[in-house]
Amino acid sequence: MKERTLTATVEAAGLLRPHAEQVYAGELAALARHDDGMRPPSWRLSPRAVVTYLLGGELADGTVITPKYVGPRRLMEVAVATLATDRALLLLGVPGTAKTWVSEHLAAAVSGDSTLLVQGTSGTAEEAIRYGWNYARLLAEGPSRAALVPSPVMTAMAEGRVARVEELTRIPSDVQDALITILSEKALPVPELRTEVQAVRGFSVIATANDRDRGVNDLSSALRRRFNTVVLPLPASEDEEVDIVTRRVGQLGLTLELPEVPSAAEEIRRVVTVFRELRAGVTADQRTRLKSPTGTLSPAEAISVVTSGIALAAHFGDGVLRAADIAAGITGAIVKDPVSDAGVWTEYLEAVARERPGWADFYRACREVAP
Ligand SMILES: Nc1ncnc2c1ncn2[C@@H]1O[C@H](COP(=O)(O)OP(=O)(O)OP(=O)(O)O)[C@@H](O)[C@H]1O
Ligand SMILES: [Mg+2]
Repeated sequence: MKERTLTATVEAAGLLRPHAEQVYAGELAALARHDDGMRPPSWRLSPRAVVTYLLGGELADGTVITPKYVGPRRLMEVAVATLATDRALLLLGVPGTAKTWVSEHLAAAVSGDSTLLVQGTSGTAEEAIRYGWNYARLLAEGPSRAALVPSPVMTAMAEGRVARVEELTRIPSDVQDALITILSEKALPVPELRTEVQAVRGFSVIATANDRDRGVNDLSSALRRRFNTVVLPLPASEDEEVDIVTRRVGQLGLTLELPEVPSAAEEIRRVVTVFRELRAGVTADQRTRLKSPTGTLSPAEAISVVTSGIALAAHFGDGVLRAADIAAGITGAIVKDPVSDAGVWTEYLEAVARERPGWADFYRACREVAP
């Protein structure tokens, strides 16, 4: 299941969560070596090589590029092509569909730097998108270039890199509007210094927004027109979802240095089956109608259920991932509302899990921890 070893530098630094460009430094360098495609100004790789980085592949010398995103190739091509134009990219989708993940990997592949990041919240102020001041210096010396604190967006403009704005639609709309000038004029005025920062070629913005939070309607139409939107879907098939969860669990286990746990495959498939059936409101054989729980059951939740299960199995179990290690995690993921979700989950266990061949251990383990 573990498909690669961490690079020595990442391992040595002991980082809990290294950036994409650190983890995949080797792959990015190999891609650059073999890349004979045309690179847009300031790009580290050609658009085609960026897509290979995202979706995986094999290079001429046999270097294997691991897939980061599992899903339709066309979506990634549209995303990458957008960044090669003067338009910004908006990744939209329900929670846990890899919006943040894709945005990080795109920035890493295009600019070699995924850290120019603005985290959008209802408290995000204009300074986070434009610039702020070092007040001690401002008071002592008056406004000067040295007293100015650039935002990640300003830095990206000056250096021709990709800036990331997470959860764009959580940012108050008057603050969002600060992006309009930046995206249409490609310049950020600094009236205090009677100057401006003009974007260097290669500058672009990748924003993410969650369509469950508050609608994309909160994006003013003036701003929306400056973005190309790519909607990231939930995994199309069960196999695809199992593939996503298996890969990510393997990678996380590696960075967390969890002991290798064999036969996780069976439990991963079971978690994915349960999630897909509950999401769809019907069993895979289309025979039994189900109620759906209130929370989202995306690959992201499945990944954390399985990872917690592996930690339990490794440290408190017999080192093999069993239904009992999954039961608490899956219950917690599904039962977000103690009343309605508990009912939905009990109904699923009784009507589906109980009767399903080979699921007796899972049924028993889940009943034991049921709320
Ligand atoms: N299609 C996919 N391919 C690869 N990984 C995926 C896919 N879908 C989900 N994941 C994994 O799910 C996890 C969560 O993804 P991420 O945090 O990017 O979701 P998000 O869409 O930003 O969610 P939110 O709206 O809650 O911010 C990541 O570890 C990511 O690798
Ligand atoms: Mg996100």
